[in-house]
Amino acid sequence: MIRLGVNVDHVATVRQARKIDIPDPVEAALLAERGGADGITVHLREDRRHIQERDVRLLRERVKTKVNLEMAVTPEMVRLAEKFSPDDACFVPERREELTTEGGLDVIAHKAKVNEAVKRLEEHAIRVSLFVDPETSQIEASREAGAHGVELHTGPYCDLSGDRSKELEKITAAASLARRLGLEVHGGHGLNYANVLPIARISEMVELNIGHSIVARAIMVGMEQAVREMKELLIKARG
Ligand code: PXP
Repeated sequence: MIRLGVNVDHVATVRQARKIDIPDPVEAALLAERGGADGITVHLREDRRHIQERDVRLLRERVKTKVNLEMAVTPEMVRLAEKFSPDDACFVPERREELTTEGGLDVIAHKAKVNEAVKRLEEHAIRVSLFVDPETSQIEASREAGAHGVELHTGPYCDLSGDRSKELEKITAAASLARRLGLEVHGGHGLNYANVLPIARISEMVELNIGHSIVARAIMVGMEQAVREMKELLIKARG
């Protein structure tokens, strides 16, 4: 079976729009588990635009499956990962001005730094994966940097509107190479209800991390009920 990691960052995005305490991504994570999530993923960004340290601490206490912390490879984030001790961590590149993670980590360019961070987290029994583009050189470098696994960037595959077969082939070949090198293979970014099947059929893929499309769907399937509850209150107010 392939595992589903549910990313609840965008529940926090809605909360941060008002800087109050709802909707709570921790509560959403517990509901995601009830729906069958095999793990909860959050990205603690350096600018704290959605997930806060409080969320990671509470997720660690309350999530029964596993917590996967996505983070930049910086001394501050490595210290926080040591403090919160998630089950898994995924190193991602991070630029403040980006809307979301835009490309894979350049493990070749940052191999020494990545290797040092991987070692520190693995001393705390945290399994580390590296979010990389599906390219041979990045996968080989990930192995050399000592990672437990790679998360293959599915964004370019998802962004295509027409024939996706070339991108799918790249991801399939990358998954196969990563597995041969002994790396665990994950995938994520941009996956939705319409494009996930070919990726989920890649036999080496053991985990997919999906966020935006699930949160977007949750809003839609919950809207009718939410409005009904408010309407009932208004009706009750007037007897
Ligand atoms: N995996 C990684 C490494 C990511 O950075 C993200 C986005 O935070 C995801 C998966 C989830 O992507 P999406 O929200 O598009 O499903």
